[in-house]
Amino acid sequence: MLFDLRPKRRREEIFDREKEFKEIEQSLSSYPMVLILGIRRVGKSSILQAYLNENPGILIDCRELYAESGHLTKDDLIRELQSKAGTLRRITSKFKISLNLRFLNIEPRETSLREVFKELDRIGRETGKFIIAFDEAQYLRFYGSRGGKELLALFAYAYDNLPNLRLVLTGSEIGLLHDFLDITNYESPLYGRPAGEIIVEPFNRETSFEFLKSGFEEAGINVDEKEIESAVELLDGVPGWLVTFGVEYLREKDFEKAIQRTFEIARGLLMGELKELRGRSPRYIEILKAIALGYNRWSLIRDYLRVRGDRIPDPRLYALIENLKKMSWISEENETYRITDPVVATVLKNPK
Ligand SMILES: Nc1ncnc2c1ncn2[C@@H]1O[C@H](COP(=O)(O)OP(=O)(O)OP(=O)(O)O)[C@@H](O)[C@H]1O
Ligand SMILES: [Mg+2]
Repeated sequence: MLFDLRPKRRREEIFDREKEFKEIEQSLSSYPMVLILGIRRVGKSSILQAYLNENPGILIDCRELYAESGHLTKDDLIRELQSKAGTLRRITSKFKISLNLRFLNIEPRETSLREVFKELDRIGRETGKFIIAFDEAQYLRFYGSRGGKELLALFAYAYDNLPNLRLVLTGSEIGLLHDFLDITNYESPLYGRPAGEIIVEPFNRETSFEFLKSGFEEAGINVDEKEIESAVELLDGVPGWLVTFGVEYLREKDFEKAIQRTFEIARGLLMGELKELRGRSPRYIEILKAIALGYNRWSLIRDYLRVRGDRIPDPRLYALIENLKKMSWISEENETYRITDPVVATVLKNPK
């Protein structure tokens, strides 16, 4: 079902990402570590889960794991890996491997991540490769007390010494993930170990149109192509929003209502995300609003804030804008900023 709000789990459910699957395949044959990057709701988790459905490996959702406790420890991660026992059993039985995975039967404190990785590498020896995937891996910077350095050292160890393991990391806060891995810094544990990179882009206009059309066909309802065109005009190409629109249209059977509901839902989701951002600095929200409203160059943003009584020092504004870029909220071209997701821009422009 294309119009299903959950991340897809099977390749047949995924629309038009053959190129990405091919890139992942090729990257994994050249690099011990591969990054899947893209803005929120673009389909990273769907692609990853579908890939893992066909290839031996396990998936750890770092965003969820972090949200549960507000930090990440070695024992949290080992417990999470232990919770994949079912998947591991399915893999070992599919490949007819008899392996005693010690880490599944002991307390987390009795082993180390390195030992667990070694055991998983042994599965890979039998199956060709074994993937450990970390979804939203920028949250791994909250591992331990040193910004995740211990984990990076483990990744470097795996990179160098465990030939059957592959690490796949996804990230929607692309700059933050790059900063965390820091492979160009010689003081970083991962220094000099390049990763393959797959960028998942939003659909272009044509693909967005085809996506909606296929979704409606699959659901067996006839929708005027003009309406589909208008939806693409308003929503652009982030699959998550197109799915939301599709689901709402099936419910409402009315274009205007479905669009309205889609933006309401987007607003709801966004409020949660903006709240997290506001916690880091309330100025982020003002800067995003400025850009959404078309104050999209450095001096215009500064003036926008000034008019609102915020005499922000230049270096501070510079730093905040850089951070918004790293978190993929905005992108910059020719010294002009834009909100990366047009739906987000529309919501920011129309305060309730
Ligand atoms: N190629 C696709 N075909 C069908 N549905 C898709 C596709 N890509 C994304 N979706 C749908 O869009 C929504 C968002 O996808 P998904 O959760 O995989 O994105 P994500 O990039 O992991 O987002 P987030 O950053 O929020 O975790 C889901 O409802 C998913 O089913
Ligand atoms: Mg995801």
